[in-house]
Amino acid sequence: MIKKHINQNDILNKELLNIIDYNYIFDEKPINRIKAKPTLENIQNKLKALKTRIEEIVSCELKKNASKVVFSDGNIQSQIMIIGEGPGQKEDEIGKPFVGDAGNLLNKMLKAINIERDKIYITNVVNYRPPNNRKPEPNEIIRYSQFLKEHISIIDPKILILMGSTAMEALLGSNKKISKERGQWKEVIIKQKNYRTIVTFHPAYLLRKPEQKKYSWDDLKIIREELDKQGIKI
Ligand code: URA
Repeated sequence: MIKKHINQNDILNKELLNIIDYNYIFDEKPINRIKAKPTLENIQNKLKALKTRIEEIVSCELKKNASKVVFSDGNIQSQIMIIGEGPGQKEDEIGKPFVGDAGNLLNKMLKAINIERDKIYITNVVNYRPPNNRKPEPNEIIRYSQFLKEHISIIDPKILILMGSTAMEALLGSNKKISKERGQWKEVIIKQKNYRTIVTFHPAYLLRKPEQKKYSWDDLKIIREELDKQGIKI
């Protein structure tokens, strides 16, 4: 039997192993019990597969009326993920979330707390534009939330920001009021993992009700504090 070097430096340990005439071969590398970080390619492949599943959805009123799927935008390795409601007209034309008026306000809100839009990852609860921009129906929210949870699990962010009542409903349930839930950190569990989550008003709502912007500003400051606390550089 050939005895190999072991990665412990402790002479006593080596001597003990010699005495008991070990048969084990020790690896030079330490054991890594923490799950390896997925590679960029890994994440890209999983996102592609998820997008295909959404494109293959059948019997869906949203898909029937939309011109294309609106999947996501931004940095797929970001530690911040934002969830909106669903694409509007502009998003449906371009194929990216938050590119219309609500998107412009979102960009300004992020900038106010020193976050560049292209450094974060953005998606919506539903990936097809609802007819006449109506709110997605409860059954549609439930159907698409399966994809959304998979999406979150692939991106695996440190911070999840739910914008508006549809995003809140998809992940926290339908019996909540956004005016009560906003601005507080919550834990959302997806595939046995906890995601630090905050609910805040949707930018489209703020465009309709500018007097609510002060609450949104409070929420943005809470988000900034958490990023600093967690040492998240963005
Ligand atoms: N509103 C949303 O919720 N998502 C978009 O992508 C655009 C507007």
